[in-house]
Amino acid sequence: MATGLSVFGGCDSDPSLTEPTVRNPLRLPPTITARDQTLAATETVLELDDGKTSRAWGYNGHLPGPTLRVRRGENVNIRLRNELHDETTIHWHGMIVPHSMDGHPLDAVSPGNTYTYHYPILQRAGMNWYHPHPHHHTGEQIFGGLAGALIVEDPEEAALGLPSGMCELPLIVRDARVDSAGNLRYRGTSSGFKGDFGLVNGVPYATTEVGNALYRLRLLNGANARVFRLALTNGAPVTLIGNDGGLLEVPATVSRIDFAPAERLDLLLDLRQRAVGERVVLRCDRAGWDLLEFVVTEEIDSHARVPEFLSTIEALSPADVSEERTFRFEGNHRINGKEFEMDRVEFRVPLGRTERWRFQSDGGAPHPVHVHGASFQVESRRGGRGRLFPWELGWKDTVLLQERETVDVLVRFEHYTGLYLLHCHKLEHEDGGMMMNFEVY
Ligand code: C2O
Ligand code: CU
Ligand code: CU
Repeated sequence: MATGLSVFGGCDSDPSLTEPTVRNPLRLPPTITARDQTLAATETVLELDDGKTSRAWGYNGHLPGPTLRVRRGENVNIRLRNELHDETTIHWHGMIVPHSMDGHPLDAVSPGNTYTYHYPILQRAGMNWYHPHPHHHTGEQIFGGLAGALIVEDPEEAALGLPSGMCELPLIVRDARVDSAGNLRYRGTSSGFKGDFGLVNGVPYATTEVGNALYRLRLLNGANARVFRLALTNGAPVTLIGNDGGLLEVPATVSRIDFAPAERLDLLLDLRQRAVGERVVLRCDRAGWDLLEFVVTEEIDSHARVPEFLSTIEALSPADVSEERTFRFEGNHRINGKEFEMDRVEFRVPLGRTERWRFQSDGGAPHPVHVHGASFQVESRRGGRGRLFPWELGWKDTVLLQERETVDVLVRFEHYTGLYLLHCHKLEHEDGGMMMNFEVY
């Protein structure tokens, strides 16, 4: 492995230290179907940079876990084998699944046991993800490396001829911290864990060789608590085509994106006019980290284009709202004055009705607010940043709530009744109690 600036031995978050002379090659986890697989949650050894290794956790030994690809209409059938020393579950973040398949902490799998998740894919194309959701230990387990992408495909998206194969890159962006022995070391504080260097697919200071083509970057913010501000170092724009719940209606040109934990972004990076030898770097402007460098090393014939039109999205209508509910995210632990209780159901939602849910911050922000069991549409943001951003259009399952903000979303549960969760996806807030059960009936 290339020798770069080491993350070991005293590299802190001083941005001047995050400019290595040599970078580490980007890795892509293996891609597998989700039809009949076992995912073992195991201890593993991660190669960080400088040839050094770190103890971590992974699915089937991979960090991130294998990228699962499924088509709409297919069935997922995955056995989780828990080879950890603590209980765990798999939650299929963004997927519409029956309660018993949702990885709720009530359905925890104890060490040495297995649990089979099986469900039909009812939803449109998009990049979702899977991760543990055990009571109080979600932050620790995701930090340790247990997370992977789940890509849903459908014919509508396939017809667009978006970049694929080598030109489609699933990228899980997060931060991390290691102890003096070089092992990933979790120390969550109630206000949220922040690491001192970035990882893309488990690689610090990543670099990848590319052709002069159009690339599809499918990003997930897999960090526990960090909001990235993504930009290219040369200030060039990228084309935004999708987010949590799949494609937007039309592409948008953006040059800076605030990217909260659990959100996804589908971006087109246009390198068609770049000459061999040129580099483009994706960075976080807020942390001052260069996350991933693209080096153009060959000329290739690329036929992919940026489509003018992407998808038709049925807008949920304010006129159909049958119920309005307000959720105040308070400090580090509470929603509407309460902490999570495993067996308490806070409210009940009728299947098939449109509701307006109002999220308000009252200290402790940012709060990336996440809903299980349905996608929603963001209607408005008042206070704070006071507007919606292009990456908040279409279908979402996580929305960023900053200090003094009120965000309204429209939501409709369509497929399953049962128990689901609403929570802050800053994982230390979630583990600390900023979560509620509700029941769809
Ligand atoms: Cu990705 Cu309930 O979480
Ligand atoms: Cu979820
Ligand atoms: Cu929060």
